[in-house]
Amino acid sequence: MCGIVGYTGTAGAAAILTSGLSKLEYRGYDSAGVALERPDGSGLEVVRRVGKVAMMGQALAAAGEIDQTGAAVPGCATCGIGHTRWATHGRPTEENAHPHTSCDGRIAIVHNGIIENFAELREELVARGHVFKSETDTEVLAHLLEEAYYGCDGKPGSHDLVSALRQACECLVGAYGVAAVCEDEPGVIAVARKDSPIVIGCCEQGSYVASDAIAIMDATRDVVVLEDGVFARLTPQGATFTNAAGEAVEPPVTHIDWSADAAEKGGYPDFMLKEIYEQPRVVRDTLAGRLAGGALAIDELGLTLEELNLIDRVYVIACGTSYHAGLVAKNLIEGWARIPCEVEAASEFRYRNPIITTSTLVVAVSQSGETADTLAAIRDARIKGAKVFGITNVVGSPVARESDGVIYTKANKEVAVASTKSFIGQVVSLTLLAMLLGQVKGRLSQAQVRLLFRELGDTVQQIQRILDQQRPAIHDAALACKDASSALFVGRGMGAAISYEGALKLKEVSYLHAEAYAAGEMKHGPIALIEPGFPVIAVATKSPTYDKTVSNLKECEARGASLIVVATEGDKDICAIADHVIYVPAVRDAFSPITATVPLQLLAREVALLRGCDVDQPRNLAKSVTVE
Ligand code: F6R
Repeated sequence: MCGIVGYTGTAGAAAILTSGLSKLEYRGYDSAGVALERPDGSGLEVVRRVGKVAMMGQALAAAGEIDQTGAAVPGCATCGIGHTRWATHGRPTEENAHPHTSCDGRIAIVHNGIIENFAELREELVARGHVFKSETDTEVLAHLLEEAYYGCDGKPGSHDLVSALRQACECLVGAYGVAAVCEDEPGVIAVARKDSPIVIGCCEQGSYVASDAIAIMDATRDVVVLEDGVFARLTPQGATFTNAAGEAVEPPVTHIDWSADAAEKGGYPDFMLKEIYEQPRVVRDTLAGRLAGGALAIDELGLTLEELNLIDRVYVIACGTSYHAGLVAKNLIEGWARIPCEVEAASEFRYRNPIITTSTLVVAVSQSGETADTLAAIRDARIKGAKVFGITNVVGSPVARESDGVIYTKANKEVAVASTKSFIGQVVSLTLLAMLLGQVKGRLSQAQVRLLFRELGDTVQQIQRILDQQRPAIHDAALACKDASSALFVGRGMGAAISYEGALKLKEVSYLHAEAYAAGEMKHGPIALIEPGFPVIAVATKSPTYDKTVSNLKECEARGASLIVVATEGDKDICAIADHVIYVPAVRDAFSPITATVPLQLLAREVALLRGCDVDQPRNLAKSVTVE
């Protein structure tokens, strides 16, 4: 959550920071700000604005740091730090926007993460005479840094920004990625991290720091992924690194080989649509190389087949959309491997006392690989003796690093805040895992696995067909929803799992209240909501429970619901009750989430656009939820 960029070099800092921050906006967009070192040596200039990075850009143009196109202007600052915020402690106001400064404004910092002991620290700092200007947890760090740099209570200061940052960080409990500048050390940026990602890259033009490589990869693709406890000192000439004891270290340089196109819209009007259209590729890439010599190959699991065979209980832990991928997995793992499987929100799992033994497998699903609750649940499960597999989209992310084995979803960078292609990558990865468990447990033969794998591969074309043919029907269905104040999503079995994801997508991008129910539950309460015109969106693809679902839909129709049904191609009977039908190709029920979710993603987007919403950056959300 939140995004950090810093630059020191020979080029215009404000232009680089603004452009970098706009690439990180998906991580939070409540406010944005920069601290720049005035080139005349007259100290730091802090510019902050509530709202998106563009608002801050306008203020920087007014301050003469960039022109109206966002380009640098002659004589502008060449060193600075910037931040785009997702509010945690403190409302999204200008005072709470980063950078935060020390009492006299000589030090400025930007911070991602949460300082858990900020209340105690703040009390101590106030007692020592510090005056706070914001409600944030971050500001304590600016004051601690001030004391460590300039001295306090008769103790001399270090007058060295990295040493001062090291000293200040010793007081912190929590997670942080932090970059600091000080007007008495022009051209220097000090950087530290704990449990919050930071990358550093250097090139001829200068040195860069960011919380995500995407912000700096136009300048360089060779980056140091900073480890916890390593401190960096950036100057226009390059970066040096020290450990917690202040000794020099040389971290490895990683070359980023993924395409920057991932962060560009590539001709689509928004990232959400681009990412929905990438889904056939995601399925293809996630399956690539997974069938070797007729057998499933998932070597990264880190367990032998014998060890896998001992697994007698599976927990899938995740949040949000990733949790819904877990609901799909439960059906598959129990159906194919006959292993009991529970799906739990990571935020619940970690606070109860689940039954875990050494033969328990915990599958942690996280697009970002950074979600705080999922990470905490992984740590807890491992302490209790479980084997943990991570399923994530981000190579080298904390979830990948802290799990015993990992499957990557191959979705590539997902920029739109609402997850689409990552969900499909997760479902495909979990399907492979379920097939493997089924095979290992002797419930699926090699021939069955090969057949399933082939059908899984067919979903590439099937998704494409939905994208090519169903947009007009989806648009008509969206028109029927756009003025509603609430909607219900229903289905049975896999259809229920898909419905939960459909409802989440609709509410998060269109702000239209939506709920999902197992269709059979309708008459136990929710049917009371139905009145003429009330939208009910149903997943009624051909499955063993198709007839039952249709009966439930007839009950809604009888009460005047406006029925939008995702149905299997060729199902003409459904037209007798549905107001709108969106057809998906016939697939085995096990694979219906991979196809039937796609129209629901498109429906959510269409409704959101009709309601004038920003589909890529819905209000109040952030792409990585690194706080509990
Ligand atoms: C919804 C969405 C969120 C995430 C959730 C977990 O579209 O994206 O619900 O799925 O915040 O995030 P990850 O998967 O990164 O752990």
